[in-house]
Amino acid sequence: MIPISALRADGGFQTQCSLDDLLSTSLQVRSNPDSMSIDGVVVWGCFPSEEIVLPPLLESMLDRHERRRAERLINPRDGRRFTLSHALLRLVLAHHTGLDPAAIIYRRTQHGKPYLAGGPAFNMSHSGAGVLMAVGPADPIGIDVERPRPMADRDGVVDRFFSEQEQRAYDATPVEDRHVAFFNIWTRKEAYLKAFGHGLRWPLEAFSVSHGQAAMVTQHHPLAAGKRVIMHHLSPADGHRGALVISPDATLAGGTLISIDGKGNTIQTEDVPI
Ligand SMILES: CC(C)(COP(=O)(O)OP(=O)(O)OC[C@H]1O[C@@H](n2cnc3c(N)ncnc32)[C@H](O)[C@@H]1OP(=O)(O)O)[C@@H](O)C(=O)NCCC(=O)NCCS
Repeated sequence: MIPISALRADGGFQTQCSLDDLLSTSLQVRSNPDSMSIDGVVVWGCFPSEEIVLPPLLESMLDRHERRRAERLINPRDGRRFTLSHALLRLVLAHHTGLDPAAIIYRRTQHGKPYLAGGPAFNMSHSGAGVLMAVGPADPIGIDVERPRPMADRDGVVDRFFSEQEQRAYDATPVEDRHVAFFNIWTRKEAYLKAFGHGLRWPLEAFSVSHGQAAMVTQHHPLAAGKRVIMHHLSPADGHRGALVISPDATLAGGTLISIDGKGNTIQTEDVPI
């Protein structure tokens, strides 16, 4: 059983359903495409605590391009993780659209951000075996997750990629807290870049984000002037750090607990104040 979790109001995650539930739900939803619509941004996460044996059904959902990418990964474990994350994304998108997971066709922007021609908007991030996905009515949506790990050259990365403002905040942080501050900044910068879809074509030092628990953009990228976004801190399982960037006009259905019953024919939501 792989836990699939949904976002809690405090940025944490609560396990809501199993992969089996999601599979049966997406199959059920497929028969009634009009039954699902998405009017807020929903965050999904999956953080398997152990390596899993992939059900063949998951592998069969991937398109040729995805399968080739999975095969190119030298370490078989990385290939399995890639397959799992891409199959889960397809299941989640199927869940929201009513499409067959295997029939989902991705398009890519000029800078490589995957999207669906008819919506909804989505973004995905993985770290180790974990994956976070956000789905909403429209872009911008950017999500990033990292599993904090020891880094030999952490200060070098700060010097190279963080803005002056972020470097000052990092340097002023007590040494024992810098690890968390670093990954907060890192995930927020990535989520910001991913929201706009430009990847690393936008210099990382040209905008600033906060380093503490409250996630925010403190200095916009000049090319994002006029494009307002809001940022949410995410703290999924096992100490992972994450960030979500969405439009300020978008409601975060992440404040809605989503649970899917074991039979796969009911989706319950419970509103939680953010
Ligand atoms: C897209 C990018 C910004 C993020 O990559 P990443 O953090 O390594 O990977 P993530 O797991 O968070 O995201 C990858 C997913 O984002 C999506 N993605 C790909 N291109 C994207 C783009 N231009 N914009 C938004 N999302 C994109 C895809 O779904 C991709 O999944 P896939 O590779 O399995 O198909 C990438 O361009 C990159 O090169 N990152 C470098 C990391 C780095 O040095 N960061 C320093 C931070 S201080």
